[in-house]
Amino acid sequence: MSEHQSPDISGSKLNEQRFHILEQIAQEMGGNIVFPVCFEITAKISLVMRSKAPTIQKIAVEIQKDPLVTSKILKLANSVTYNPGGANVTDLNQALMRIGMQATRSLALACAMEQMSQSKAVSPFEAFSREILLHSLKASMVARVLAQKLAPHLHADSAMLAGLVHDLGAFYILHHAVRYPELVERPDSVKYLVAQWHESIGVILLDALGLPEEVVESAADHDFPRTTPVEHLRSLADVVYVANLWADGLNEVQKLDAPGTAIEPPELTNPKYVALQPEFEAAVADFMSTW
Ligand SMILES: [Fe+2]
Ligand SMILES: [Fe+2]
Repeated sequence: MSEHQSPDISGSKLNEQRFHILEQIAQEMGGNIVFPVCFEITAKISLVMRSKAPTIQKIAVEIQKDPLVTSKILKLANSVTYNPGGANVTDLNQALMRIGMQATRSLALACAMEQMSQSKAVSPFEAFSREILLHSLKASMVARVLAQKLAPHLHADSAMLAGLVHDLGAFYILHHAVRYPELVERPDSVKYLVAQWHESIGVILLDALGLPEEVVESAADHDFPRTTPVEHLRSLADVVYVANLWADGLNEVQKLDAPGTAIEPPELTNPKYVALQPEFEAAVADFMSTW
């Protein structure tokens, strides 16, 4: 224990704090979930996408209200991934046409996640939330490459979105955990709480954000070791499972009290995925250069 920690907290008190957080989260999830304001654009894009006549123009109206998202959309549209021919665009509408609605929504979400990870509200867990953000950005591009190369029946941009948001529940838990000084002093305890609960909480959040059903489903149990190795990517959930591992998600997996977490997942040595490693790295580097 460090000299700054509260001296009077025992294991059971800590458990009590953890339980309080979960209780509070459950209560909030039972009613109207209030997202931080940075998620407003994402929610509006989702509304447009679920409307009868979704158009790029309607999405552009929402995007241009936010200069940060606008500039990142332009950068992404001119990145190697979306612009292998090197023909740059300078106009938001053209950029949106090039990357499409799904990737646009991913970008808006990534910006919201970054703002959330940098906000004062999670500053006591700054390093941890930064780690989750970088892992999420990495997982999004690994998922995109996996879908593109090994699962053409799945939409690469849906895979990107699913990879990006699979750990969204973790940010939400951190937002609640900061209200408990005992937990702020014991970040490891919070990591345990996140490991145990972020998947189920994430599913509820993604649903509330209006994301597609298969994306929501892919966040469920993404850390839980599979009983049979994933050799074929049949669903977005399979893609997210493998992408999470290749995006350094193994430490998340190892914090679960689950059988099979001590052995190296076979998906990390499967030659099919190993052969794609240079492409994972190139796509991640390309995406990060637009950030
Ligand atoms: Fe996770
Ligand atoms: Fe993860």
